Amino acid sequence: MPDVPEPPRRPQWAALENHRADTLPRTDLRELFAADPSRAERYVVRVGDLRIDYSKHLVTDETLRLLRELAGATDVFGLRDAMFRGERINTTEDRAVLHTALRAPRDAVIEVDGENVVPGVHAVLDRMADFADRVRSGEWTGHTGKRIRNVVNIGIGGSDLGPAMAYEALRAYTDRSLTFRFVSNVDGADLHEATRDLDPAETLFIVASKTFTTVETVTNATSARTWLLNALGDEKAVAKHFVALSTNAEEVAGFGIDTANMFEFWDWVGGRYSYDSAIGLSLMIAIGPDRFREMLDGFRIVDEHFVNAPAEANAPLILGLLGVWYNNFLGAQSHAVLPYSHYLSKFTAYLQQLDMESNGKSVDREGRPVGWQTGPVVWGTPGTNGQHAYYQLIHQGTKLIPADLIGFARPVDELSDELKAQHDLLMANLLAQGQALAFGKTAEEVRAEGVPEEQVPHRTFRGNHPTTTILARELTPSVLGQLVALYEHKVFVQGAIWNIDSFDQWGVELGKVLAKRVEPALAEGARVPGLDPSTAALVAAYREFRK
Ligand code: F6P
Repeated sequence: MPDVPEPPRRPQWAALENHRADTLPRTDLRELFAADPSRAERYVVRVGDLRIDYSKHLVTDETLRLLRELAGATDVFGLRDAMFRGERINTTEDRAVLHTALRAPRDAVIEVDGENVVPGVHAVLDRMADFADRVRSGEWTGHTGKRIRNVVNIGIGGSDLGPAMAYEALRAYTDRSLTFRFVSNVDGADLHEATRDLDPAETLFIVASKTFTTVETVTNATSARTWLLNALGDEKAVAKHFVALSTNAEEVAGFGIDTANMFEFWDWVGGRYSYDSAIGLSLMIAIGPDRFREMLDGFRIVDEHFVNAPAEANAPLILGLLGVWYNNFLGAQSHAVLPYSHYLSKFTAYLQQLDMESNGKSVDREGRPVGWQTGPVVWGTPGTNGQHAYYQLIHQGTKLIPADLIGFARPVDELSDELKAQHDLLMANLLAQGQALAFGKTAEEVRAEGVPEEQVPHRTFRGNHPTTTILARELTPSVLGQLVALYEHKVFVQGAIWNIDSFDQWGVELGKVLAKRVEPALAEGARVPGLDPSTAALVAAYREFRK
């Protein structure tokens, strides 16, 4: 019998349940702040350039203490140390989990099976930097001798979302003379729209795939090669227009990309934790190697904080524990991430994979079905847009939706003065939403405005909606690295408490296998044995519509 107790069987879990029963009916943010205005300063943690305010949460000192006791009992920090040491904590895949080694300094020593992996990490970073510089300077030319002006990253999941998100986030730091596109969807329209206005002679394809067997990526890369060769007419062109980012040299060679043009990473880097590895090559070309290294430094600031900060001031631990409080004790099903920055427009989509692929699990590390809630649904879009769409439900709906509000004090430098002047309005919205969500508007306040009695219930805001406010001076490469590492480790904390393997993703396999079986039925009308009646009817309808 496994000897790890299920989380709800721990006395610390029961203590939190009792605490919830005793205090929740009385937990009101107005009252909490009235009783202790100092929580506005006390419930703030600073990490690197981030100021993380968790004062507007439905917690007291006692709640936080009990949550930390749960973290202690589940040995979150022990598992953290095992991860940083390179132990094989991804047990179902028997792999180390060492994305933190991707940003370790050159002189660090991190061993996997007795081998220090850090020199290899820096060797690849150096090769990437050399290649990025050659593309940026125009020294690396296409097959016809023309300069590369367009970079198209072909990948999906972790091989797409990270670089695409970070490119968007750091646009102000990118070389604006180059065009960057990110193709992920096996819908041919994606590649079509990404390439239709590009000159093949000026286009570099970066095929990003950890396994290099992902059908969407291999299919798109094959079509991209055809597009290129149709224009340039010479197989040799592939060497100048295709590079690969992968752990699988054999498949890369099999596809026809010279492994001299491959930038490697390792099986101890999970796909959703990989954009600071070779998978970030497109980003490095966009922002340059120095900025890329600044981003890695930002990741490292939070890594070091996660390892060294005491539990009471450990930001990933605190955020992870707050999520556990809502998810497991207050019944929240989802978590909204609402950046007040246009540049972070893809940030939540990136976090969806990071969080939901990591913690969307229903058996624990021992393979037992979980009788407790695991990862939340993560969702959101940039805040001001959301305000005019779905915030109504957060304010006055029936669901508890904890939210993160993320904003920056300064707009990017290149905006005109007029556009910079809009920034205070943007940030006023962030602050106003946090305020309205937390403190609402009472019926008395509504009445005092002279609102007719029958309208009072409609115009009353219950408030008490929890938010974290993350502020930084500006969105730099380092700050982006800090933000991503913060969420990576938050996800880690929660997986550790729920006793699940946050680093496998078996749940995506079944759909892939079935898609391969169904495709011949769609394409050729082939009989697929064992097809369920509903899918069989849909296959028939599709073929009928397609005529
Ligand atoms: O199918 C899920 C997944 O394996 C993700 O975990 C991964 O990020 C994505 O597919 C892409 O995988 P690859 O980089 O091997 O092409």
